[in-house]
Amino acid sequence: MNRVRLKLRSLSLLFVTGGAAPPTLARCDSGLHETFFQALRTMATNNNNINNPKKAKEQLRRVKTKENRNKRGDVRGPSTVYVQVVGAGSRDSDASLYVFSEYNRYLFNCGEGTQRLMQEHKLKAAHLDNIFLTRLSWENVGGLSGMILTLKDIGVPECVLSGPPQLDNYLNAIKSFSGPLEDIKLSVRPYTEETYSDETMTVYQVPLFAQSRTHSRSGSSSPSQSPASPARDDLHANICRENPSEGQTAARNTSLVVAFICKLHPKKGNFLVAEAKELGLPVGTAAIGPLIAALKDGKNITYDGKEIRPEQVCTPTDPGAVFIVVECPSEEFVEAVFTNRQLRRYQTGGTEDPAALVVHMTPESVLKTDQYKEWMERFPSTTEHLILNEQVSTVHNVRSHKIQAQLNMIHPGMFPELKSYKTKEPQAALHVPNVRAECLLKFQLRPVMEWQRDAIPSCNTEEFVKEASEVPNFLEEVDKCKKICFTDAAELSDRGKRYPEVLFLGTGSALPMKIRNVSGTLVNISPSQSVLLDCGEGTFGQLCRHYGDDVDDALSKISTVFISHLHADHHTGLLKLLYQRERALTTLGRTFSPIYLIAPVQIMSWLNQYHNYCEEMLSHIKLIPNKFLCDGSETPTQRTKSFIQALLKTNDLEKFQTCIVRHCKNAFACSFTHQSGWKLAFSGDTMPCDAFVHIGKNATLLIHEATLEDGLEEEAVEKRHSTTSQAIGIGVKMSADFIMLNHFSQRYAKIPLFSEDFSDKVGISFDHMRIRFEDFSAIPNLIPALKTLFAAEIGEMEERRERRELRQPRACSSETNSEQKTTRALEVGQGAKRDQEEAAAHSVEAKRLKLS
Ligand SMILES: *[C@@H]1O[C@H](CO)[C@@H](O)[C@H](O)[C@H]1NC(C)=O
Ligand SMILES: *[C@@H]1O[C@H](CO)[C@@H](O)[C@H](O)[C@H]1NC(C)=O
Ligand SMILES: *[C@@H]1O[C@H](CO)[C@@H](O)[C@H](O)[C@H]1NC(C)=O
Ligand SMILES: *[C@@H]1O[C@H](CO)[C@@H](O)[C@H](O)[C@H]1NC(C)=O
Ligand SMILES: [Zn+2]
Repeated sequence: MNRVRLKLRSLSLLFVTGGAAPPTLARCDSGLHETFFQALRTMATNNNNINNPKKAKEQLRRVKTKENRNKRGDVRGPSTVYVQVVGAGSRDSDASLYVFSEYNRYLFNCGEGTQRLMQEHKLKAAHLDNIFLTRLSWENVGGLSGMILTLKDIGVPECVLSGPPQLDNYLNAIKSFSGPLEDIKLSVRPYTEETYSDETMTVYQVPLFAQSRTHSRSGSSSPSQSPASPARDDLHANICRENPSEGQTAARNTSLVVAFICKLHPKKGNFLVAEAKELGLPVGTAAIGPLIAALKDGKNITYDGKEIRPEQVCTPTDPGAVFIVVECPSEEFVEAVFTNRQLRRYQTGGTEDPAALVVHMTPESVLKTDQYKEWMERFPSTTEHLILNEQVSTVHNVRSHKIQAQLNMIHPGMFPELKSYKTKEPQAALHVPNVRAECLLKFQLRPVMEWQRDAIPSCNTEEFVKEASEVPNFLEEVDKCKKICFTDAAELSDRGKRYPEVLFLGTGSALPMKIRNVSGTLVNISPSQSVLLDCGEGTFGQLCRHYGDDVDDALSKISTVFISHLHADHHTGLLKLLYQRERALTTLGRTFSPIYLIAPVQIMSWLNQYHNYCEEMLSHIKLIPNKFLCDGSETPTQRTKSFIQALLKTNDLEKFQTCIVRHCKNAFACSFTHQSGWKLAFSGDTMPCDAFVHIGKNATLLIHEATLEDGLEEEAVEKRHSTTSQAIGIGVKMSADFIMLNHFSQRYAKIPLFSEDFSDKVGISFDHMRIRFEDFSAIPNLIPALKTLFAAEIGEMEERRERRELRQPRACSSETNSEQKTTRALEVGQGAKRDQEEAAAHSVEAKRLKLS
């Protein structure tokens, strides 16, 4: 990998410093640029196996498994299988399950945040063979686009999605922003292909169709299930719908849920050596082989005139347990579950062995119904029931709680403790024993059937605080910081200006990681109005953890969302946010109104496809294409004009501007000015950009991306992002009062490297950091304490930088010999190996950065 990376660097350097004019390269939309990177990508792909041992190993595993299967001719059955909860189904962590066997790994459902959870808890996405989806709703597929991009980047050759046939349309829809997906073979195995079998188990897909919608309205179905009223559809029928043909909406089909019956392959018993010896069998000689084989096959043998039965020398064959995964999202589906014949077979008196485990992704409102209860009671008492829904309140993201608890020690106001949303719905009284899901709870099916709780993460704030207290000098620095900040605060408290308030929800780039999520920044303009700047995957989850039970209130205030560009890390959290906002308005008894969506008009290709084939969504938005807010843009339609006027009025804004920035095609920055005089400028993703300086002139607050550290200018050009000092430079040119940096590469998980250009006007953002304009003077005072808390990480990053600087001049000095030199460079110093590992670990991120 390293080799490739260096090659890339030297090539791109050649390009920048060589004959080709840099501006050509700098233009993102130039065909030359595209071909150039296409070529690089191909090169990187071709070299991958040689250079990425991890990937090679993974492919080997796949090949071996296949070979084994072919050699055996029969299926031996796995010896270890367990079902594990990933997301327990809380409002911020949608229900998902991971199933492990030594041959295969599966995922059931993939809502937003699933990938990040898997990453935090080391459930390797690289090993996924199959993803099963119970239904085409955002709760189940919200994290799927990100997951697919990651699978592609780590080199998983193939991924099969089982479930609703509309998954095909979903895959098509994500191509509108994911770029080409040729590297990975994606296919859909619709429920009509009833059975599927591999080394581990046979899976039967069971379609469940909703009964008529009429009686569901009277029932208390889950709030997220509000059927779209035709009136609202009409209202927005003519927004940017490229092809408003009537036939299209018919392709959307929300009346289907797919349940999965999974039957493990039988596993033959083990041969008991001691017992065999006692009976006089020729243990330890060549003769024993065929005898064991026969016995394991369940045949009687005669040895030395003595008949020996298998049960004398073998443990019994395990016939293979069955587990069932069923989602029953609303009362409309209860009848279908209740009467389904296939499911019936695994209940008491059925034709098959009863299910060992039933996983219910079923809200409390459905569990409460008599019919569903009765259905559960039809399983024998030996059947275990695992329930995933909002009743669960376990901490999923320990790492983010930890860092927040520690930052909270430095400044409780800017780093408020995280909260959780607790449902107010009481638990249904069930008459069967059941277990409520917790993050990482396991049910082992083999070798021994049992619940396993040892992986469930614990989250102990006191311990996190204690750990930080033991960092040398940290408490002293915190004291110093508090003294300064409190004096300042006392001075300012009279003014007590709470608004505007900026809440950073996601400050990382590319893929969501343990510490930093992808882009999302909430600007609370006034007590009743908020604007969201970008909305990466997990933005809603972040809101939920910040506001806890008040999340509905916070959602109801969001009237406007600005999407800077269509990289996945900036917009794939939008649908979840919109659906949850609708739910919030319903819960609060407010009238529904769509949001103003200020976004590249190309977003409609994705939204239209999702709307047409998956779920109703167009009624949630009033689109204002970014380009109409640029200086000297073409005149918008009357309709768009009226949206712009209304947007300004709603938010008490004087002006809302955008400009094209230097990143990918159709990437925009924005700035807006409040009637009371303050101005906020937001860069989105970009290299240093003069047009942005222009629209952000004299901003009170500039939020600028700083993806990479100083010294990585070439990489910044290649990926069309900014370095720390470049971002600060833009703020200086703009004469911004204050600059907050964000969108850090995930290689700076905890804290980015500081640059010499830091001044008392610059701050770095963290997920869940909340600042008010009165905090500007205090923010730089946090830095010594932050540097102390993260001293170890900063030390490591600085070492890495030094090694890189040692290496770089050689690797780049000449292009022809670069491979040789790279090899030599790699031998320099003992740090080289660590660097290689680093490089492997970050190779996925590095690839994705180009798309971030
Ligand atoms: C990032 O988002 C995921 C998914 O919503 C969440 O589980 C995680 O806690 C977030 N990270 C941080 C640092 O809050
Ligand atoms: C959804 O699909 C089922 C089965 O294919 C079909 O019976 C039903 O009519 C469809 N509903 C809609 C609204 O298309
Ligand atoms: C094995 O032997 C036992 C007792 O001798 C007999 O009942 C059984 O049917 C035999 N099984 C087979 C598979 O021949
Ligand atoms: C920015 O502020 C300076 C100094 O106050 C002023 O001269 C200039 O006109 C302002 N520019 C804009 C675009 O507001
Ligand atoms: Zn981007």
